[in-house]
Amino acid sequence: MTEKRVTFASKIGIVAAAAGSAVGLGNIWRFPSQTADSGGALFILVYIGCILFFGIPLMMSEFIIGRGSRANSAGAFHKLAPGTQWKWVGRLGVLTGFVIMGFYMVVCGWTLDYVLQALTGGLHNITDFSANFNNLRSNPLRQTGWMILFTLMTAFFILSGVKKGIEQSSKIMMPILFLLLIILALRSVLLDGSSAGLAFLFRPDPTHLKPTLFLDAMGQAFFSLSIGMGCMITYGSYFNNTNFTQTAVQVSFLDTLVAILSGIIIFPSAFALTSNPDTITEELVAGGPGLLFITLPELFNQMPLSAIWGSLFFCLLALAALTSSISLMEVVTLYIHEEYQFTRKRSTLLVATGVILLGIGSSFSSDLFNLMDLVSAKVMLPLGGFFISLFVGWYLDQKMVAAQITNEGTIRLGIGFLKAYIFLLRYIAPLAILAVFIYGLVG
Ligand code: TRP
Repeated sequence: MTEKRVTFASKIGIVAAAAGSAVGLGNIWRFPSQTADSGGALFILVYIGCILFFGIPLMMSEFIIGRGSRANSAGAFHKLAPGTQWKWVGRLGVLTGFVIMGFYMVVCGWTLDYVLQALTGGLHNITDFSANFNNLRSNPLRQTGWMILFTLMTAFFILSGVKKGIEQSSKIMMPILFLLLIILALRSVLLDGSSAGLAFLFRPDPTHLKPTLFLDAMGQAFFSLSIGMGCMITYGSYFNNTNFTQTAVQVSFLDTLVAILSGIIIFPSAFALTSNPDTITEELVAGGPGLLFITLPELFNQMPLSAIWGSLFFCLLALAALTSSISLMEVVTLYIHEEYQFTRKRSTLLVATGVILLGIGSSFSSDLFNLMDLVSAKVMLPLGGFFISLFVGWYLDQKMVAAQITNEGTIRLGIGFLKAYIFLLRYIAPLAILAVFIYGLVG
């Protein structure tokens, strides 16, 4: 490598960049549709458990690997475990990144389509919102166009450099998005008949227990926190003097808050606005990946100045998606740049081309789209997380792990904390991931 490695500038920039990666379509689009599919509150409980028991510790592990090596996700394993097969964990992550982008960029494209619909005023003249979404979904060329545009936008930010691109956009966009979500959540909860939706979200119903619920929740937790594929390794490699425990807790908290807020926006309004309350839960499941794009425009129509709310929301959603897609593309690009010595520009173009090809596939085939979503979230990310926890728990020198999370002893954490952390990574996280995985496959 000829150029000097850049780092993030400030503490707030670090949290913003990591939160910018985590908060995205996973929270606002995927979380509600997974929650609907799994019957509501029970799913959310299990989800929160997954964030606490694997999410936060694994995010810290990725930070440790990243800053401990200052390399891309595969190079990190080379450096920390030379001559071993651990590098395959990094390579698996790079592959996972490709697969995720293969369908993620298509959903990013949908957000752009809706930005246009909202800005041109088309969105608030619609009466049948699910037909409107299905029109888009059954038009591969329209989806391909938007997907390519979004991929190129992402590539542009990757090329304009880490600091400027990622840090700035996250810092500005996140607080505005957050405020808007709170306004929308309030509006949704204040609709007549919203309470059934709140009960669906917060009152667990044991009859909703299904065998795949645990795997669904775990996959969603990995996906939403951007862990299990080296994304936080890559971002960690740009970190300076930051407190890993604090950062991981802050990012996970923000991320979960945004997911739950999205739930509070979608479900109360879906229950309040449905024309046939008896079949609402089936309706929600049938909404599938379209849920957000069907229910939200309906909510905007209940608000004064619906066109403005719609435009603002979909613009911010596209930006939240952009800071996530940047983090995904950065993993793969940095890998090619550092491991194959391609220039940043060539690496980016190569990755963008590959992503566009996959994206065309998932624009034309919803089976491929669903397959990539399923395999990445429920197989590849948990597998990656499993190995990452073993790597930090068992392989890395515990002194190095301690030095990383205490910043060479400058942060006081107590010996018990470190012990508990290592114990979690050695036994609890890998065994639980394995158990959930096996139960989800046979169940
Ligand atoms: N977490 C992002 C979201 O919720 C998506 C994402 C970005 C991601 N980077 C990732 C998912 C790495 C898994 C791994 O939208």
